[in-house]
Amino acid sequence: MSPTRILITGGGRGIGRAIALRFAEPGVKICVAARTSAELDKVVEEIEAKGGEAIAAQCNLRDHGSIEAAVFRAVDFFDGEMDLLVNNAGIFDVKPLEECDPEFIQRHLEVNLIGAMQVTQEALAALREASNARVVMINSTAGQQGYPGSTVYCATKYGLRGFADALRLELQDDGVQVTTIYPDSTDTTIFDGVDLELDRSAMDKPEDVAEVVWRCATGAETRTDVPVRG
Ligand SMILES: NC(=O)c1ccc[n+]([C@@H]2O[C@H](COP(=O)([O-])OP(=O)(O)OC[C@H]3O[C@@H](n4cnc5c(N)ncnc54)[C@H](OP(=O)(O)O)[C@@H]3O)[C@@H](O)[C@H]2O)c1
Repeated sequence: MSPTRILITGGGRGIGRAIALRFAEPGVKICVAARTSAELDKVVEEIEAKGGEAIAAQCNLRDHGSIEAAVFRAVDFFDGEMDLLVNNAGIFDVKPLEECDPEFIQRHLEVNLIGAMQVTQEALAALREASNARVVMINSTAGQQGYPGSTVYCATKYGLRGFADALRLELQDDGVQVTTIYPDSTDTTIFDGVDLELDRSAMDKPEDVAEVVWRCATGAETRTDVPVRG
């Protein structure tokens, strides 16, 4: 059965938007959360155009109060039960370690790791209320192998993988499943301004990642750790 009450962080563009649109259909309620209201509002309209119901929850993952408010808003919209939480929001940049100042490190940890932990914490009661809930972490191949120039990003994604592995065990008797998805390079705005030579046309598309999330959430894919390629 496909989930009908879904919270997606970073749902305003890129992979998060594609996931939202993959699930959007009549009977489905989706809350998209991120900082940029204009992008969220547009995705809400796109979801509604496909017959789904949606709300935008403006949220900065670097601010715990903002996370609390956004998840509260989502859970209220879902009448207390959440079937699917997608921890998708993330940031990426490439820099040698000696150029990663404390703010850079702090920002990456807060958005990519601490934010996902806190969103999950806030959503736990509503996930437990649903009969067959799932948490999906949008990780990265950088959560499985190191890349030069990506020490901080890799550390956040390895951290996210550890969080997911422990959470899966912690929730195994609660009917809440935890899945980690590992996208390869995907053509989104995450690469805007990043100092890398890239062939965006060779990258995966956000819809490729969304399809994997769909397969996991509907039971067609049963692995706990799922690559997007292969
Ligand atoms: N694209 C790739 O090649 C690739 C590969 C592997 C894994 N991933 C992972 O996939 C996920 C989505 O990335 P993407 O490629 O779709 O990136 P994107 O196009 O840049 O979208 C990132 C989303 O995260 C949100 N976000 C960023 N900072 C935030 C904050 N402080 N608070 C709340 N939301 C915030 C952004 O919205 P606002 O800026 O409006 O807040 C946006 O909606 C990330 O976790 C990324 O690490 C991407």
